[in-house]
Amino acid sequence: MASQISRIFLLLLVMTVSLVVFILSQESLLKSWTVFSGKHELRWENVFFDINLWGQEEKTAVAETPIPLLYRGNFTKLPQWDFDDVYNQDAPPRPTTCAHSLRNSQDENFKKAFLPNIRLFLHKDNINMSEWNRLSHFNNPFGFMDYKYDEVMASVKLIPKPKEPLLLPKPGGDGCVHCAVVGTAGILNGSKVGAEIDAHDYVFRMNGAVTKGYEEDVGNRTSVYVHTAHSITASPYFFGKYGYKSAPHDEGIKYVLIPEGMRDFQWLEGLLKGQEVSGGQFNKKWPGTYYSGQYNESRFYVLHQDFLRYVRNRFLKSPNLNKRFWAIVRPTNGAFALFLALHTCDTVDAYGFMTDDYMKYSNYYVQKYIKTRVIFYANHDYKLEKNTWKDLHNRKIIKLYQRMEPESGTEKPK
Ligand SMILES: *[C@@H]1O[C@H](CO)[C@@H](O)[C@H](O)[C@H]1NC(C)=O
Ligand SMILES: *[C@@H]1O[C@H](CO)[C@@H](O)[C@H](O)[C@H]1NC(C)=O
Ligand SMILES: *[C@@H]1O[C@H](CO)[C@@H](O)[C@H](O)[C@H]1NC(C)=O
Ligand SMILES: *[C@@H]1O[C@H](CO)[C@@H](O)[C@H](O)[C@H]1NC(C)=O
Ligand SMILES: *[C@@H]1O[C@H](CO)[C@@H](O)[C@H](O)[C@H]1NC(C)=O
Repeated sequence: MASQISRIFLLLLVMTVSLVVFILSQESLLKSWTVFSGKHELRWENVFFDINLWGQEEKTAVAETPIPLLYRGNFTKLPQWDFDDVYNQDAPPRPTTCAHSLRNSQDENFKKAFLPNIRLFLHKDNINMSEWNRLSHFNNPFGFMDYKYDEVMASVKLIPKPKEPLLLPKPGGDGCVHCAVVGTAGILNGSKVGAEIDAHDYVFRMNGAVTKGYEEDVGNRTSVYVHTAHSITASPYFFGKYGYKSAPHDEGIKYVLIPEGMRDFQWLEGLLKGQEVSGGQFNKKWPGTYYSGQYNESRFYVLHQDFLRYVRNRFLKSPNLNKRFWAIVRPTNGAFALFLALHTCDTVDAYGFMTDDYMKYSNYYVQKYIKTRVIFYANHDYKLEKNTWKDLHNRKIIKLYQRMEPESGTEKPK
């Protein structure tokens, strides 16, 4: 009897122990599964910086210091953070008085991706240490990875808060903000859409936006000019032979800077102080002279890193971000300009953006007399952008200027 009881007891003991061992092994399995399936790569840097971030979250509102520098070179592809798709948002914009605003689109895909209140502009009042630390996880132009706090803040702390929204409905109009965004693509040569472009409330342009001599095809007005320090300094060299003299400078024009790298922050510091640039690629250049007398702090806007990252993440996420050269991959200036229009206008007509039949046209509309080929640089995913413009057009979010018959839109020249 006694031996039978002890045998049953032994059996129970063995069963309990194996159950405990089983549960423990499941738990560790579960734990390692979450780690592997999470968005983080298992790299020591990430583990280290996550802990760092938690530490900061616990002591919010306490004086903080910049996190240790994260280096682009330490990542073999775009790193993923669990806060990657979380963005700084602005106060809701003016309630739209426009019945057919793209903001009211019922397209499910667009509604899912579109953030009507995304923070558009960076200024001294919307940056602080926790913002700095958050944005230091993203490479330029999407954040401050690799950059030193003092070097960037020397200019960011000078950027005034914009006093008014970029665009307002025109008085006496239909309550809608109607915009044309004009890219530089060859499709515009011979298009004769200049008057149509100029008839919009506002005209956006970027980069080598030569209008003089091309008015019939591209119009002559510019209300918003989107640029980088590189594009505004390099355009006279690239487009000089086609008549480019200086950036557009219509009276009251709004200038929008894409802060794409350290050189743009150095440019900004010189511009905002009314001085020459001190240090870097544009050392000794006078930024103020590049705006032909139309530079005015109250009409100068700097795009926010969260806006740029949101555009990339939600609309233009190139598979090249998983390649070794991931850190240079970003949407074109034209793409950022078009998305800026999508967030500040009620209707957007895009002209001079890449279309399926791009091979029929020169690279730039200014190349009238020699047929050039469209150049694909590794830092931009032109095919992805081309398909995105067409998709937005088909969903009736934008109107894309195309020269193919709409009916034959399904055939894709290869
Ligand atoms: C990360 O990059 C920095 C700067 O290039 C380098 O000094 C450091 O050794 C790298 N760290 C690792 C773990 O590769
Ligand atoms: C830092 O700035 C962000 C964005 O403007 C804001 O949401 C946050 O509350 C600020 N944090 C502190 C601690 O001031
Ligand atoms: C653009 O062209 C129109 C019509 O030719 C003209 O009235 C207007 O002054 C021009 N605007 C600019 C900014 O050159
Ligand atoms: C800049 O624009 C503001 C607002 O329109 C105006 O009051 C100011 O005089 C302008 N400054 C210069 C230097 O033109
Ligand atoms: C530009 O347009 C003109 C007028 O349509 C045309 O004659 C010319 O061949 C075009 N240039 C190129 C390079 O396509």
